[in-house]
Amino acid sequence: MPEKGIDVLCEDLLKKRETVKQGGGSKAIEKQHEKGKLTARERIEKLLDPGSFVEIDEFVEHRCTLFDLDKRKYLGDGVVTGFGTVDGRLVYVYSQDFTVMGGSLGEMHAKKIWKVQDLALQNGAPIIGINDSGGARIQEGVDALSGYGGIFFRNVKASGVVPQLSVIAGPCAGGAVYSPALTDFVFMVDKVGIMHITGPAVIKAVTGEDVTSEQIGGALTHNQTSGVAHFFASSEDECFTQVRTLLSYLPNNNVEEPPVIDTGDDPYRGDVSLREIVPTNPNKSYRVHDVITRVVDSGIFFEVQPLYARNMVTGFARLGGRVIGIIANQAAHLAGCLDIDASDKASRFIRFCDAFNIPIVTFVDVPGYLPGTAQEYGGIIRHGAKMLYAYSEATAPKITVILRKAYGGAYLGMCSKDLGADVVLAWPQAEIAVMGAEGAANIIFRKEIEEAEDKEAALKQKIEEYREAFANPYIAASRGFVDRVILPEETRGAIYQALLLNEGKREQRPKRKHGIIPN
Ligand code: HXC
Repeated sequence: MPEKGIDVLCEDLLKKRETVKQGGGSKAIEKQHEKGKLTARERIEKLLDPGSFVEIDEFVEHRCTLFDLDKRKYLGDGVVTGFGTVDGRLVYVYSQDFTVMGGSLGEMHAKKIWKVQDLALQNGAPIIGINDSGGARIQEGVDALSGYGGIFFRNVKASGVVPQLSVIAGPCAGGAVYSPALTDFVFMVDKVGIMHITGPAVIKAVTGEDVTSEQIGGALTHNQTSGVAHFFASSEDECFTQVRTLLSYLPNNNVEEPPVIDTGDDPYRGDVSLREIVPTNPNKSYRVHDVITRVVDSGIFFEVQPLYARNMVTGFARLGGRVIGIIANQAAHLAGCLDIDASDKASRFIRFCDAFNIPIVTFVDVPGYLPGTAQEYGGIIRHGAKMLYAYSEATAPKITVILRKAYGGAYLGMCSKDLGADVVLAWPQAEIAVMGAEGAANIIFRKEIEEAEDKEAALKQKIEEYREAFANPYIAASRGFVDRVILPEETRGAIYQALLLNEGKREQRPKRKHGIIPN
């Protein structure tokens, strides 16, 4: 056989590369587009900085010989893996290729994912997984299951070390859903992404319920009802923009600080219109977004899980160019009560911020925990406990701003001084008490009210007495539970000062393997 010259060898390589790019072939690509979906490679292009993607393991093939699979081999084995940059910062990525055997996951497909997971952890960079797969490659049996097991194991190992993001841009069913569930944030594309443990046919057989895939596992369901997803996107383009935006707030790993940028917004800018946002009457409502956007840089608030547990608002923003994680009661929804879903939502967000050194700013206006059998039977005790745990465990700077109501256990649950808040600020209309004045008067003055000739007038007077005593921030301030009572327009500057003061915060806790968060 004549020896091949270098040019011929290079030509061979280029041809192979071209084959890799074809994935499952032009017909399958056409089918993918017909479904309104981008291909695995097109998605990576949308996500990363132009020209920055470097593919690895493009010549990996499966090794299965069962069910004639040895006659169906595709270079890359149905997943595109590698690294690149987002806004110039390193990220690792994998993108499942539905055009190759439905993006199904077998031994070698999984090993490619394992490799980028290992590299992301080793090099301290975020990893983004784009999911579009029929699940475990049925022909590969236990090898496919082992593939998932290895991914889960690595997800957990990397948890809290590097940010892990999941994009659901196709089917993601059965046990496959657990990798995204183990990552930090799940992005779902409407009408394209589907996540469920069991599909409509199995549900019909077992429970008799008639449901569609979209109803049980669509983007809206998981963003609004189950809380599995954190971001809803109407299109893939919107989804990748969301991923890039989120990354702009995050450090690359847990030993880095989040990126500081010059937003050009004066940190001491005071907005007097804040005085008009929160009514002094504790029974009147408002949208806490109107407070947040007036306080943060350029009014930009990147909300996380905006459609789920709307009584609790979570998200990222910048103040003086520094990233902050915001947790706020939403007076306009369920009066801002804490309930099971709100507690889950907030506690997970707090833990994420703490893991990645993002200062936590809490805006408090909370009447208490939501009453009812649904809450008690659902375990509000253990769910609510998560917030106490997450705040107490967090050693990132914690800044609390009491806007209005801060009643009872919910006052503690929203990061009071006792849970380790570094700075507690309160507005003049803040009310820090065991409960609202009406409830309190009814309990502690019951006898006097019952014995009074004019019960209504007596009740009114006792409510007023209690309100005088506790419906203000000054008793809490006199005990040092509130560090400063501030004018609403001083909020931005006061938070900024608190951020600067706590920039060097270091807090050591007793050594332990790990705590046991209630769940
Ligand atoms: C092997 C698979 C596959 C799988 C799809 N394909 N899923 N091959 N293993 N799991 C193949 C199909 O045979 C087909 O091959 C090609 O991918 C495209 O699939 P279609 O069915 O034509 O596409 P579509 O109509 O869009 O339907 C997509 C789908 C459907 C809804 C995902 O393919 C489907 O229901 N697949 C099975 C899903 C499933 O039950 N997976 C196991 C889940 S359990 P050809 O050759 O025709 O192109 C699981 C356990 C994980 O994953 C456990 C972890 C612990």
